[in-house]
Amino acid sequence: MFKIRIIRINDAVFADSASPLNMIVCICHGINEKALRSAVESGATTMSDLQAQTGVATCCGKCADCAKCVLSEALNELRNEVLSVVSGERFLQAA
Ligand code: FES
Repeated sequence: MFKIRIIRINDAVFADSASPLNMIVCICHGINEKALRSAVESGATTMSDLQAQTGVATCCGKCADCAKCVLSEALNELRNEVLSVVSGERFLQAA
């Protein structure tokens, strides 16, 4: 499936159709979505954790809303992954 992600930071609109995870979230520090998701996989569960691990939203702060969305999305995906393992979906699918 072809997927395009669009993000708006103030008046600037960014789109990345080739590799959504490479989309820059924080322009000040050049942090992309992949780096934020990696921080979540490494244990970040709050915006403060994300800021401490990556530096996102620690300069102008204009990326904070987008970073919070990525954090929420990544946490939900991890939660669903854990639930599928706990509920045995993974084992049933593999069998
Ligand atoms: S765009 Fe992230 S701190 Fe400025």
